[in-house]
Amino acid sequence: MTAWRGICREFRDILPPIPDASVVTLLEGNTPLVAAPRLAARIAPGFSLHLKVEGQNPTGSFKDRGMTVAVSRAVAAGARAVICASTGNTSASAAAYAGRAGLRCAVVIPDGQIALGKLAQAMVHGARVVAVRGNFDRALELVRLLAEDGIAVVVNSINPDRIEGQKTIAWEIASALGRVPDLHALPVGNAGNITAAWKGWTERAAREGGERPRMLGFQAEGAAPIVRGERVSDPKTIATAIKIGNPASWQGALDARDQSGGLIEAVSDDEILEAYKLLATLEGVFVEPASAAGVAGLMKLGARGALPKGAVAVCTVTGHGLKDPERAVAVSGRFETVDAEPEALRRAILEPGEPGEPAKRKAAGA
Ligand code: F0G
Repeated sequence: MTAWRGICREFRDILPPIPDASVVTLLEGNTPLVAAPRLAARIAPGFSLHLKVEGQNPTGSFKDRGMTVAVSRAVAAGARAVICASTGNTSASAAAYAGRAGLRCAVVIPDGQIALGKLAQAMVHGARVVAVRGNFDRALELVRLLAEDGIAVVVNSINPDRIEGQKTIAWEIASALGRVPDLHALPVGNAGNITAAWKGWTERAAREGGERPRMLGFQAEGAAPIVRGERVSDPKTIATAIKIGNPASWQGALDARDQSGGLIEAVSDDEILEAYKLLATLEGVFVEPASAAGVAGLMKLGARGALPKGAVAVCTVTGHGLKDPERAVAVSGRFETVDAEPEALRRAILEPGEPGEPAKRKAAGA
């Protein structure tokens, strides 16, 4: 078994040129494709589902796939600094890769709207973190404006190198599954990822033959500009990663949908949280809320009988659940505190009640 060498080196043939000496890698990619039979059975009878667990990347999200390419190419071009706007994961990834490369990194985030774990990452990796009083769309506009002066290389997905790196997921899925899936579901925010995955499937089919999947993209109901066909000026959703009202890769998402015979639909916050809990409890896969939007979408399609019989689906689950520990605690049952005595502990463990719910009996002394 040869050791995995990261996206830039493993996929050299399908990426833009990167001199070996410029490669900045944390050995991202090669994430697990995990069967999800219990969830599949909930979605539709005879349905087959695998999860591409992108939270297993070095900084806990799919962003690392594209960031290694963007930062390596920035190094090769002699850049001194990178900049991005982010709902959190791009900034975490940019900060880590820039730090490793010895580049300065500035991240612009919507004030008070990013999950704690992501903020911690950007800060600990040494980025200059600036929160703006505005939403993600405004933050990206500002980054684009500043970048016109050439102060730094933009490493948002408007940088084509990001898309190039992210397209590699198609090769990994096909190789792990031993075939191209019929359906590829994923959440949609700024729409770089669905654009990249479709580019990957299309290039792979041109090189190696074979089918392409139907792309199923899901936006949060309160932040669903592509579904509604118009910008959303004040996007709202608990899935902060995809709280975006004017996606930069809007056209790429429409092309992926239309060329693949797929769809882009909306899922409510309640549906996202339901899928989030089922992923964790039925399959042992802990993702952040936005990452559950793809599964929520499949559940919705399954419930209205809109999934082809016997279909083989892959869902990208985009980011790790530990990114947003506050949400995990908020949606889960409480735990019980007992005296440090065997009898009290035995009662608390054996008392009837759902897992995650405190026992019905009143706690001693309560
Ligand atoms: N899932 C997660 C966990 C994300 O962080 C994002 C985007 C998406 C899905 C949607 O991907 O934007 O390519 O359609 N996060 C960006 C960020 C916007 O700044 O971290 P997309």
